[in-house]
Amino acid sequence: MNRDILSKIEQEQMISREELEELLTTTDQELIEELYRRARATAGKYYGKEIYLRGLIEFTNYCKNNCYYCGIRCGNEKAQRYRLTMDQILSCCESGWELGFRTFVLQGGEDPYYTDERICTIIKEIKKRYPDCAVTLSIGEKERASYQAYFDAGADRYLLRHETADEVHYQKLHPSQMSLAHRKQCLRELKEIGYQTGCGFMVGSPGQTVECLVEDFEFLQELKPHMIGIGPFLAHQDTPFGAEENGSYDQTLLLLSILRLMFPGVLLPATTALGTIAPDGREQGLLAGANVLMPNLSPVSVRKKYELYDNKICTGEESAQCKDCLSRRVESVGYRIVTDRGDSRIEK
Ligand code: SAM
Ligand code: FES
Repeated sequence: MNRDILSKIEQEQMISREELEELLTTTDQELIEELYRRARATAGKYYGKEIYLRGLIEFTNYCKNNCYYCGIRCGNEKAQRYRLTMDQILSCCESGWELGFRTFVLQGGEDPYYTDERICTIIKEIKKRYPDCAVTLSIGEKERASYQAYFDAGADRYLLRHETADEVHYQKLHPSQMSLAHRKQCLRELKEIGYQTGCGFMVGSPGQTVECLVEDFEFLQELKPHMIGIGPFLAHQDTPFGAEENGSYDQTLLLLSILRLMFPGVLLPATTALGTIAPDGREQGLLAGANVLMPNLSPVSVRKKYELYDNKICTGEESAQCKDCLSRRVESVGYRIVTDRGDSRIEK
């Protein structure tokens, strides 16, 4: 394959099924290096050498859903459930703010205990104490009125991975009560309301084919999200997918680069799952065009319990340790972490 394919992706911001398959299976190391180089250059045009941080607060692992891949699914009776109190959440924000975090991501299972009123109270309190910070929510599928209420309370961003844009594949990953149509509808509503919106998918989830990825790209083209979160699927032993093979590290890096070329200004995290599958996965993610890191700010006492997949990293480290560790890792590949809300640089 010649390098023209990379120029074509850059210029047309499109990739065909054949080109994607060829890139995902190529053994041409020079081509792969060139892809990474171009993805880095593109990220650099928008974000320079700056890496944005988001402080992840995993505030509940109760979930009413039963996704086949996820360690906190309601059917996992071995999961030790927890909820953080308002004071605990605020104390995560306090230590995060001191460490230079200017975005807090409230992530959790779909937990009915957190009514809209409770969520709005939490958002308002964080925004009152830290008006210079962005609040991101990642709490799943809700009614439009709920999304509007959170937005009116001050939430700035919302992360909701679509998981897969292929109808049949979606049904392989989720029980029949869940639907791709609803998830997509949620994402469209979030954008309409005015959230900076993130979607995304797992790489190598059971049953994923190149066709599924092509559909993912088509959906991304249509939605035009501000952020795209991808990471390898990693098996969790106490789920129906416990014996499935993990997603591919190399393919995740390739897909990060391709996404960077197709969506040049998008926010692209090097995820914890990428750091779990390979010791320097997050650094390599940055070198493949990612520009965001999302370390954990949750209290160490609960970290192990928010186990979406086996062997998740950073479950024993305090937030300050992770921040130091990450700064070193980021600098080791020539980048630097900035104290900034880290808004997307693409026009709405
Ligand atoms: N409940 C919210 C939601 O559904 O968006 C947020 C929490 S959910 C656990 C966050 C993300 O974790 C999911 O969107 C999924 O892509 C990812 N995830 C869950 N299980 C995983 C696994 N076994 N391997 C990799 N990623 C996983
Ligand atoms: Fe948490 Fe390295 S980032 S220990």
